[in-house]
Amino acid sequence: MMKLKVLAVTDEVDPRIYSTSVRDRMGDVDFVVSCGDLPATYLEYLTDSLHKDVYYVLGNHAEELTREGQRGVPRHPMGCIDLGFRVVRDKRTGIIFAGLPGSPKYLEHAPVQFTEKQMTWRILRMVPRLIWNRLRYGRFLDILVSHSPPRDVGDREDPAHRGFAVIRSLIRWTNPTYQLHGHVHLYDRSQGNCSTLHGTDVINVYPFQKLELQFDGLPHRDIDIEPNVDSIRAELSHEIAEGPSTRV
Ligand SMILES: [Fe+2]
Repeated sequence: MMKLKVLAVTDEVDPRIYSTSVRDRMGDVDFVVSCGDLPATYLEYLTDSLHKDVYYVLGNHAEELTREGQRGVPRHPMGCIDLGFRVVRDKRTGIIFAGLPGSPKYLEHAPVQFTEKQMTWRILRMVPRLIWNRLRYGRFLDILVSHSPPRDVGDREDPAHRGFAVIRSLIRWTNPTYQLHGHVHLYDRSQGNCSTLHGTDVINVYPFQKLELQFDGLPHRDIDIEPNVDSIRAELSHEIAEGPSTRV
């Protein structure tokens, strides 16, 4: 079993984090994960003060929050690692991330908003890399980082905050140990921020969480059955493209 401490941030700059004491309180984390809608300067501050890798996806407000100057172009935080539609393995811990930026489409011409179909196609492009990890490391991925939640798990009914059905399918077929997301702001502390979906712990990290994550059998989990590449690829592509799944 591998245990990791992770600082996860999303959606709002929190003064408890954007402070000179962050090093004392968060200096022992293994890495930082951002689930989006945060200014680039906030993430740059975290990587500079903690000297830890910061993995991030953009949120739907990325255009406003990461641009340079009043009318400048959007920019990504310097020295941080973009997980947007990528599968990335952290070399130090061996943890495998996959990242899904943005929200459902609710405005025209918005840069980081996607229809269910667009999100599905982009996830399908990540499938070969996920399969490669399954063959090489015995699992597709460990932590799925997204801005939006999966459909019907901590999402809301309005079009902007409805979760993606395809994220449910992805979780069902790749079984990450954790799924971290933001986008849905939790003001009511009695509302839970954790759920389980197909054995995956889904956590809304708003506005920040110091998490103690546990991974069974890492970093070298045994593969019990010799995997068949073609059948995994067919199975995964079919299930992800199949659309909304209502099973929990
Ligand atoms: Fe958002």
